[in-house]
Amino acid sequence: MIIRGEQVALRPMTVAEIPLFYQWATQSDSAPLWYEDGRIPTYEEFTRDWKRYYFDGSEPEKGRCFIILAGNRPVGQVNYNEINRENNSVELDIIIAEDMDKDRGYGTDALKILAGYLLDSMNIRLCWIEPVAGNTRAVKAYEKAGFRTTRKFTAGDVECYHMELRASQQDKQV
Ligand SMILES: CC(C)(COP(=O)(O)OP(=O)(O)OC[C@H]1O[C@@H](n2cnc3c(N)ncnc32)[C@H](O)[C@@H]1OP(=O)(O)O)[C@@H](O)C(=O)NCCC(=O)NCCS
Repeated sequence: MIIRGEQVALRPMTVAEIPLFYQWATQSDSAPLWYEDGRIPTYEEFTRDWKRYYFDGSEPEKGRCFIILAGNRPVGQVNYNEINRENNSVELDIIIAEDMDKDRGYGTDALKILAGYLLDSMNIRLCWIEPVAGNTRAVKAYEKAGFRTTRKFTAGDVECYHMELRASQQDKQV
């Protein structure tokens, strides 16, 4: 399955690509923004967090990772986590690995594609994402993808935004 957007395409990540994802998360230009607290996990710790179903599609209600493709080149990953079926909501995460691939619209497009897929095909009504407020590039990209800040909060000493994208304005009461 490949889902095409305007600038990038998404395809499900495979088990064989877990080491690549680990490299992006821990050693790429973006690693310091992915693990903000500087606590870089070992590969074993990483695979305990990122369980196999993210990569083999065995439990789509629990989460799934996708490779972001610019042309045929993998430039990052976007995923959804466990779906809350009480209100059909789900959290998303994203990483564009290297600086040379940032500010080209890839992140915005990848989020639009994944949110569109979740809303259209997985009966999701609300996608959410929580950037650090100081990560202004991420906040801008999420706004361009249609997310709006609905709440601010602090995690430790760090200010963060809770940003939401809803299926429609009619769903405001979710
Ligand atoms: C955040 C991220 C996913 C965004 O993806 P991207 O492909 O770089 O973003 P886009 O190109 O779609 O949009 C970025 C926008 O922010 C703008 N921007 C860049 N640096 C900025 C800054 N310091 N302040 C404000 N805006 C900034 C860009 O100009 C662009 O806007 P424009 O299209 O109007 O010019 C990607 O940069 C990334 O993976 N970063 C590192 C990891 C990370 O932060 N993950 C998110 C954790 S919540």
